[in-house]
Amino acid sequence: MTKYRVAFIGTGAILPSHLEAIAENSDRVELVAAVDVDKAKVKAVCAAHNIPHWFTDSAEMLARIQPDLVHILTPPFTHFQIILDSLEAGAHVYCEKPLCASLDQFDRITAKEAETGRYCSTVFQWRFGSAGKHLKKLIDNGDLGRPLVAHANTLWYRDEDYYAVPWRGNWATETGGPTMILGIHLTDLMLWLLGGQWQELFAMVDTLERNIDVEDIAMALVRFEDGALAHVVNSALSPRQESYLRLDFQRATVECSTLYRYTNKHWTYSIADQMTHTDELERWRQIEGGDVMGSHAAQLSEILDSIDAGVRPFVSGEEGRRILEFSTSLYKSGFTNQPIQRGSITADDPFYYAMNGKYD
Ligand SMILES: NC(=O)c1ccc[n+]([C@@H]2O[C@H](COP(=O)([O-])OP(=O)(O)OC[C@H]3O[C@@H](n4cnc5c(N)ncnc54)[C@H](O)[C@@H]3O)[C@@H](O)[C@H]2O)c1
Repeated sequence: MTKYRVAFIGTGAILPSHLEAIAENSDRVELVAAVDVDKAKVKAVCAAHNIPHWFTDSAEMLARIQPDLVHILTPPFTHFQIILDSLEAGAHVYCEKPLCASLDQFDRITAKEAETGRYCSTVFQWRFGSAGKHLKKLIDNGDLGRPLVAHANTLWYRDEDYYAVPWRGNWATETGGPTMILGIHLTDLMLWLLGGQWQELFAMVDTLERNIDVEDIAMALVRFEDGALAHVVNSALSPRQESYLRLDFQRATVECSTLYRYTNKHWTYSIADQMTHTDELERWRQIEGGDVMGSHAAQLSEILDSIDAGVRPFVSGEEGRRILEFSTSLYKSGFTNQPIQRGSITADDPFYYAMNGKYD
């Protein structure tokens, strides 16, 4: 079987997750090149991991290597142009979150996909764990009843050292604070599990403690079309860190408590009377599909299946746009002190072009 030729652009902190993804799919892909503007870093990475070609310029790499798939691991503000260049060069794209800086950029990426016949996926590894998929199936089958109450609390701690990295902490280069960078995973997971059809949100956004331009705390109340209410917290200020998802359905509460990764053991199913162990409760707790961690490797495997089949990968197109629209709406609500309806931010709105609603 011919292996897909993969190139990495960016070789910083998130590199190990992508190397692990390549290793776990090594029968289907080979890593042929890496790019970083830091020459010493990319040379060392290539030497350490037997990557045959290194570059300091992504356009040069795309022209010379012509990879089938590009993983983009660079800071957020660089993603948009590298995505366009990669699609234009005939490569599929697997890009770190946040995919880009605005809905405008997202829609231009979608246009470039249509033009080139290549697809651009966002890294949302949490959608690919067996426990997440199992719950999604139960929800879609209606087994748990209708969703009523949801909490997606990303309570992380990021100190001044974290924000000392030059691209962090400002709108132009990080594209946002914990809403775009930290809570994006759990919020995306919640929106996907609940079917994504939120109707209206109201948010408060603030910078309470860190010396940064972007927020260090954001909270939103969300109403879904089917009536469910959700509470989203994106914090960089929480010393005891936790990622906590709680979904209350008519018939059961489902919770996930973890930090950066989950496996089956992080999930619990409860019913109103804890002393009653019904057959159904036991069935819900038996997670199907083994014990697969929500990881970059699991998502890469799905992307390769999609390339094989010539179809759009799962977390691209509308499935990638949803969280960006949600985050944009959260910021707009926070900055304007108004409730925001899903679908209301269109090309005549400054927030369509920038997360903080300000043109540079
Ligand atoms: N999915 C996850 O769980 C997860 C976790 C951490 C970070 N991330 C995301 O990964 C991305 C990178 O984060 P990081 O923490 O690895 O950052 P980092 O600063 O550690 O690394 C970024 C690397 O990109 C290089 N770079 C910058 N501009 C470049 C360009 N134009 N061309 C080539 N190389 C360039 C830098 O020299 C650096 O080595 C961000 O979008 C971040 O949000 C995702």
